[in-house]
Amino acid sequence: MSDNPAPQSNARKVFIKTYGCQMNVYDSDRMTDALAPHGYTPTTDMGEADLVLLNTCHIREKAAEKVYSELGRIRDFRDERGPGAKKMLIGVAGCVAQAEGEEIMARAPAVDLVFGPQSYHRLPDLVERARTERVVDTEFPEEDKFAHLPAPRREVTISRGLTAFLTVQEGCDKFCSFCVVPYTRGAEVSRPVAQVLAEARALADAGVREITLLGQNVNAYHGLDAAGQPVSLGALCHRLAEIEGIARIRYTTSHPRDMDDELIAAHRDLDKLMPYLHLPVQSGSDAILKAMNRRHTAAEYIDIIGRMREARPDMAISGDFIVGFPGETDADFEATVEIVRTIGYASAFSFKYSSRPGTPGAGMDNQIEEHVKAERLDILQAEITRHSQAFNAGCVGMTFPVLIEKPGRNPGQVAGRSPYLQAVHITADAGLIGQILPVEIIGLAKNSLEGRIVTAATAAV
Ligand code: 5AD
Ligand code: SF4
Repeated sequence: MSDNPAPQSNARKVFIKTYGCQMNVYDSDRMTDALAPHGYTPTTDMGEADLVLLNTCHIREKAAEKVYSELGRIRDFRDERGPGAKKMLIGVAGCVAQAEGEEIMARAPAVDLVFGPQSYHRLPDLVERARTERVVDTEFPEEDKFAHLPAPRREVTISRGLTAFLTVQEGCDKFCSFCVVPYTRGAEVSRPVAQVLAEARALADAGVREITLLGQNVNAYHGLDAAGQPVSLGALCHRLAEIEGIARIRYTTSHPRDMDDELIAAHRDLDKLMPYLHLPVQSGSDAILKAMNRRHTAAEYIDIIGRMREARPDMAISGDFIVGFPGETDADFEATVEIVRTIGYASAFSFKYSSRPGTPGAGMDNQIEEHVKAERLDILQAEITRHSQAFNAGCVGMTFPVLIEKPGRNPGQVAGRSPYLQAVHITADAGLIGQILPVEIIGLAKNSLEGRIVTAATAAV
C-alpha cells in the first residue's frame, strides 16, 4: 500500500466521536485516512469542525439510544453558532446507521449524511454529495472496501502509538439469537493474506510493536493466500510473527466453535502470540446456549479452555456474558455463575440482555423482567470481580515482559502493558518507551499494577 499525498492546503477539520467496540475505533481511523487526501485533518474540538461524524454502536439498546441524544446536542451546538459560522456537516456512521438509516433521517432532521460500515471507502464522495442533498448509503457493495481505503501516511501511523488494531475479518454468519451483528456488519468476509501482511508491515515500519487482529468472529478468518488457498487464523499468526518489529500479536473476538487445533497450536509455538484469550461463552446453561443458537455446550467450552491451557500453561482467559436472556431460570443463571468459578476469568464483560429489533430473541415470549436482570448482573459481576482481583493479586511477585508504551501519570514514571493487557506503572526513564522489558510486579493499584524493571537490557523479540 502506498502513502497518500500530503493533505491539500484547503484545510478542513473532521471531528469523529466513536462508540462501541475496537472495530469502530479502527474504522474511525480509516475514515480519517480516507478523508486526509481531501484536505481533512482530525480535530478534538467540535467548535472548529467542518464535518462531525458519529461512529455508532447498535449492540444494545442503550448504545443505540445514545446516538439520538448526542445528535440533539450537536444540532443545538450548530444552531448556537449562528448564521455567520462556517457550515458544519453532521454524519452518522457505524452500526446504528446501517440498521436505522432512514429512521435516523426522519428522527434527526439535522443529519446530512448516514452511511454504514461497508461504505467508508466512499466517504469523500458521500461528503461532497451531502453538501447539496441529504444522503443515505447503507448498501453492501460488491467491491472490496479495504482495497479502496487509503493507507495512512507513515507519520500519522507513528502518531497513533506503539499498539495498533488491524481488522482482518468482518461480519458474522453465526446468527446468535440475541445479536444484531450479522445484520449490521453483514456476512463474514476475510481480507486476503497479502493485504493483511502489507498493512502489518506498514505498521511495523512506523514503529508499531503490538497488533491486535480484529474481527467480529476473528477466529473464523479464512483469507486467501497468493495461490488462492484459504489460510486459517493460526497460520496467519505464523506469517505475521515473521515480521520484524512486530513483537506481540493478539486477536479478538472469537467464537468457541472456530477455536481450531491450528490456532491452539499457534499459542504453543509462537512466543509473539500473547497468552491471553478473549472467548465469550455468554451463558453457562446448555438450555440457554441452545436458545441463543450458540451451537456449543458449556462442557465443550470448558474443554476448549482446557486444551488452550495445555498448549500454553500461562494462558489467561477473558469472556463475555449475557444475563436475563429470555427463559433464563434461576438454575440457568446459577450455571453461569458456576462457569465463572470453573474457568477463573482474569477479566470478563457482562451485560443485561437487551432485546434487539429483528433478532429472533426479540420475538421470544418469555422475556425476563428488568429487575431480575439487574439482580443477576450484580451477582455475576461480583463473582467476576472476585476472580479478576485474585488474578491480579496472583501477579504480584511474578516477572513478565512489559511493553513500555508511554509516559506515566507522574514525572519519572512510564506506563506499559503486561501480556494480559494489565496496565503497569513503572518508575523508569521515558527513553525506554517502545521497548519490551522484564518487569517484576511489586504492587497493586485500583486498575493497574505497579512494576519494577528487572534488568536494563532489552528483552529479545
Ligand atoms: N444484549 C446484551 N448483550 C449483548 N451482546 C451482544 N448482543 C447483546 C444483546 N442483545 C454482548 C455479547 C457479546 C458482546 C460484544 O456484547 O456478550 O459477546
Ligand atoms: Fe453476534 Fe454471535 Fe456473531 Fe458474536 S458470534 S457477532 S455474538 S452473532
